[in-house]
Amino acid sequence: MLLYHDQIKKRSAVNIDIEDRAYQFGDGVYEVIRIYNKKPFYLDAHLDRFVRSSTAIKIELPYPIQQLKQLLLQLIEQAQLETGNIYLQISRGVAPRSHAFPGTIQPVVIAYPQNTNRPISALNEGVCAITTPDIRWLRCDIKSLNLLGACLAKQEAIEREAQEAILIRDGYVTEGSSTNIFVVHNQTLYTHPANHLILNGVTRSIVLNLADKLCISTKESAISEDALESAEECFMTSTNMEICPIVQINDKKVGTGRPGIMAKQLQEAFEHLIG
Ligand code: PDD
Repeated sequence: MLLYHDQIKKRSAVNIDIEDRAYQFGDGVYEVIRIYNKKPFYLDAHLDRFVRSSTAIKIELPYPIQQLKQLLLQLIEQAQLETGNIYLQISRGVAPRSHAFPGTIQPVVIAYPQNTNRPISALNEGVCAITTPDIRWLRCDIKSLNLLGACLAKQEAIEREAQEAILIRDGYVTEGSSTNIFVVHNQTLYTHPANHLILNGVTRSIVLNLADKLCISTKESAISEDALESAEECFMTSTNMEICPIVQINDKKVGTGRPGIMAKQLQEAFEHLIG
């Protein structure tokens, strides 16, 4: 089952054109929305960002966002998705290949469900990360389909037997290849400010809110690569990875080499939100 334009169809009934601009230029934006217990998690926050991203690249949604929300809820219901996610994408549409925007064309909206379990062992045991230069563009706040910089970084992490690549721009940590990064230094929780250099993660915002409630002191301020080396704790956040401790960076343990106290506290608070 998937959503194509405003219709729910069988996957086999849908054809994507070879001149879809998403395919040729990465000319579109996307969202990944978590489903827990058959319910979408923070759906409105994802749809708000979807509208922000598409507006930023001048793609107008073909129908009201409330209609899209209803269609996604129908898709989740019809697919009987219990735990997993919905991948949602809009491309500028189909036109003969030419870089400049074509005249008025219909954007292509697709969404489909994926069954994916929660990453329980990574959440409990933590994962390893590497650092690598952030070679991406300067509008990382847009959830663009152009993910080559992220793919190259993630692949480098996998080849170095790690799970995530922490990106470094001008000596400072920006974010992970597909996650936001949090670092504990002097008992304060740091994460990069939500500007053009990172994607303002839905999970990132949830964590900042939970930290406030738990009286954890937070600073939205970039952390240097040097400070990362002497971090007391580090963790990454995303829709799929939730709040996942990073216990080793390059060849060095973070803190004790075990998931940190703040990460555990925040994970516990996050579990309550999932319900
Ligand atoms: N990635 N930063 C980047 C570069 C990301 O690609 C993502 C999400 C995040 C975390 O955002 P959120 O908490 O809203 O999921 C941060 C998605 C899940 C992906 O591309 O699969």
